[in-house]
Amino acid sequence: MRQRVLLFRKNLNNFDTLFIYRGMKYDIVAPGVKYIGVDDLDIDLFEGQYDVPEGISYNSYLIEDEKIAIMDTVDVRKKDEWEKVLEKALNGKAPDYLVVQHFEPDHSGSVKFIMEKYPNVIAVCSPKAKPMFERFFDVDYGARIQVVKEGETLSLGEHTLQFVMAPMVHWPEVMVSYEHKTKILFAADGFGKFGALCKEEENEEGWACEARRYYFNIVGKYGAMVQQLLKKAATLDIQTICPLHGPILTENLGYYIGLYDTWSKYEPEEEGIFVAYCSFYGNTAKAALALADIIREKSDVKVSTSDIAREDLHEAVEDAFRYDRLVLCAPSYDGGVMPVMDDYINHLRMKTYQNRKVAFVENGTWAPSAGKKMREAMEAMKNITIVEPIVTVESAVKDKTIEDLKVLADALIG
Ligand code: FEO
Repeated sequence: MRQRVLLFRKNLNNFDTLFIYRGMKYDIVAPGVKYIGVDDLDIDLFEGQYDVPEGISYNSYLIEDEKIAIMDTVDVRKKDEWEKVLEKALNGKAPDYLVVQHFEPDHSGSVKFIMEKYPNVIAVCSPKAKPMFERFFDVDYGARIQVVKEGETLSLGEHTLQFVMAPMVHWPEVMVSYEHKTKILFAADGFGKFGALCKEEENEEGWACEARRYYFNIVGKYGAMVQQLLKKAATLDIQTICPLHGPILTENLGYYIGLYDTWSKYEPEEEGIFVAYCSFYGNTAKAALALADIIREKSDVKVSTSDIAREDLHEAVEDAFRYDRLVLCAPSYDGGVMPVMDDYINHLRMKTYQNRKVAFVENGTWAPSAGKKMREAMEAMKNITIVEPIVTVESAVKDKTIEDLKVLADALIG
């Protein structure tokens, strides 16, 4: 289902043609609030680890009133581009405030530039963000840093920002900001997604696909903190969500908030079976794909598969959380399991994978060990139900293997 509400022009970083809202040229988010972010299509890996084939946006906003506030900066990689967008938006004026909601360098990378270029600007941040200025920039800004606490407000004139602490969503210093006049929630990393805004027009997968991969890999460990933030947000009359990555959300907000609620409770988003496999010579892969086919033949249960050595491991993390059942298929290796499966399970552990049914298919030619290793690792996670039997492929898939896979398929279908 296509849920995106804002369609963006390809030349987003040209401030004259910002984005289209329901077919109308639109260069403001709301009265007095401008989008001044930039796309990054040159980046190879976001955070040095995540594939972003459609790039990513570093969103930044400008609130113009009696006082002018910049809401977050951008990665230093795109500082020069952002400077042009900012200067055009400011139109010769100087900002009074720089609100730093999150200090991760994809947003704070141009903070030093702003502090130097505008010597009167006051940086507004949470108590935990304050020491990060000196840690990152080796500069003591002294009284130019204004610390705000939970619920405190900053009046810009008609616009008033109210600060809501959001620790660990996704760093400890994170806060989000609610603007009372426009009812905008500036949500920091919350409700962000991979993908440059200029690519949104071609995006047929909808918001959830890349938002889910972003959420589980980046914020996933901190579900309890996301729940706390959602409870605070429920007390606010939010009409627009302005995240630091991805499109601005203005309609059907219940859909996005509902997904965040499901994800942060570690509940499955939908019924289905995700088969994650790796294989040295194709025999384990053959068993994994045979299992998927058997399930499809026997039922209407949705089945998805991934070769975790060749396909995006982080997408496989996302899919493990998406569905209610997971099957891990791997060969034995050095008394344990093929390393890429070890790595995958470790990713799941770090993101506090829980509340799912899990089954195993192992392969072994002389001393199968993968099933035991995978089971021990998964049983150590919270509320994991093991689906029996563990199927052992003895070197290659044979008639006996298919019969065993049919038994496992029946157990998974339930
Ligand atoms: Fe987009 Fe946690 O930084």
